Formats: sequence, C-alpha cells, structure tokens
Amino acid sequence: MELERILHKHGFGTRKACRGLVRHERVLVNGVLSDDPFADFPTDGLVFTVDGVDWPYQEQAVLMLNKPAGYECSRKPQHHLGVLELLPVQLRERGVQPIGRLDEDTTGLLIITDDGQLNHVLSSGKRKVPKVYLATTKHELDAAQIAQLLEGVLLHDEPAPIAAAAVEIAGPNLLRLTLTEGKYHQVKRMVAAVGNRVEALHREAVGALTLPEDLPAGHWRWLSAVDLEKLVKST
Ligand code: URA
Repeated sequence: MELERILHKHGFGTRKACRGLVRHERVLVNGVLSDDPFADFPTDGLVFTVDGVDWPYQEQAVLMLNKPAGYECSRKPQHHLGVLELLPVQLRERGVQPIGRLDEDTTGLLIITDDGQLNHVLSSGKRKVPKVYLATTKHELDAAQIAQLLEGVLLHDEPAPIAAAAVEIAGPNLLRLTLTEGKYHQVKRMVAAVGNRVEALHREAVGALTLPEDLPAGHWRWLSAVDLEKLVKST
C-alpha cells in the first residue's frame, strides 16, 4: 500500500496532509526514513513511525482501554469527558467507538474499535457474551442475595426476570458477577433488586479477554491476535 494511503487510513489527516508529513521527513517505515509518499509497502507486520511515535499497521483498529471513573461512553458526552478523549487523535479520526457502554462511574475493560462488524457481533444480545464485573456493595453480602441473583430478579421495564450467569462472593462487600446481557445499569439495578447497593463497579473481563493487570487506569493498548481470538471465541 502507498505510504500516503497508509497514513491516511490511520487517521493522520487528508491525503495532502499525509503527503506533507512524508515529504517533511517525519515518517519512518520499519525504522527507515521514507520521503516518497507514493512508495509502496507490504502492510503485513509493517510499523511506521511519525514524529518518533510507532504505529503498527492495523487493518482495523481494535484496542482495550482501562476506563477510569469520570468518563462517559456515549457518542455525545454531556457532563464529563468522553472516553475517546483518552486516545490519540488519530484513533478518533479513524472513527473508533466503544463496544457497549460502561457508566460514567464504572471502571475497567472497554473494547474500542472501528470494526463495525466486530462491534455488532459483540454487542448483539443474541450472542450472550459473558461480562465479568466486580461490584463493591454498601451492605454485607449474604447467601440469600446470591441465590436471588442466580435465580433471577425482575427489573423495571423488563418482561421477565434476569439471572446472573455466575455469582461469587469475593469479600464481605465484594461481589463478582457474570452477566450475558448488557442492559442499562444492569449490575446496579440487579444488586438494588436484592436489597443491596453498588458503591463501585469495575469490569474485569469481556468473554475470555481479561483486563491485564499491568494496564493502568486511563491507558489503552492494541489487542493482540491472541486477545482478538479470545474475544471472538466468546461469541
Ligand atoms: N452494569 C451497570 O450497572 N453499570 C455498568 O457500567 C455496567 C454494567
């Protein structure tokens, strides 16, 4: 693929702007300066560098973010910054969007992509992709609450009770639960329905993909081929 096109695809502005970057010798390809915007490169395994920052060629952008509290996932954030503000502008230019939403005060694993098909597959209710949450509760948890969550609770505006796929008491006020739907405020509403209250919520995993311990809050990273496979296998 032509270098100018590679840069354009990766969100570095108009074709003209990309040509300018190359002509001004700001771009390396696989570590070698390239000043010809029309030079052709095989994209497999290609890494280009713009102003000292490395970018692996990504046919589709798929990344994970450790979402901090205080950021909204909606397309038009109203009261806080949007999660996309945590990403380089080039990724926003590519049109990446979060797959599903976490509440403003929820932290943890968020998948973000410009791959519409992947987004559709992972967010489709039919696929029942399990999501694992760690909820800190206001009151101590007890066996009756766990039993109710596993049996199913009736939420306002839902036609039938919804059950957690798995529930585990991880501490006196710490609940790990797995849900296969993605309903609005689902964890908070389910926990409220059994007479408790969520004080903090963190998503640990989506499908077989777990938030890496070494990814600090507010940081992101590309999904590796292995990560992607884990995600897709969960559908
Ligand atoms: N359930 C909630 O209540 N909030 C989230 O952010 C995710 C699941």
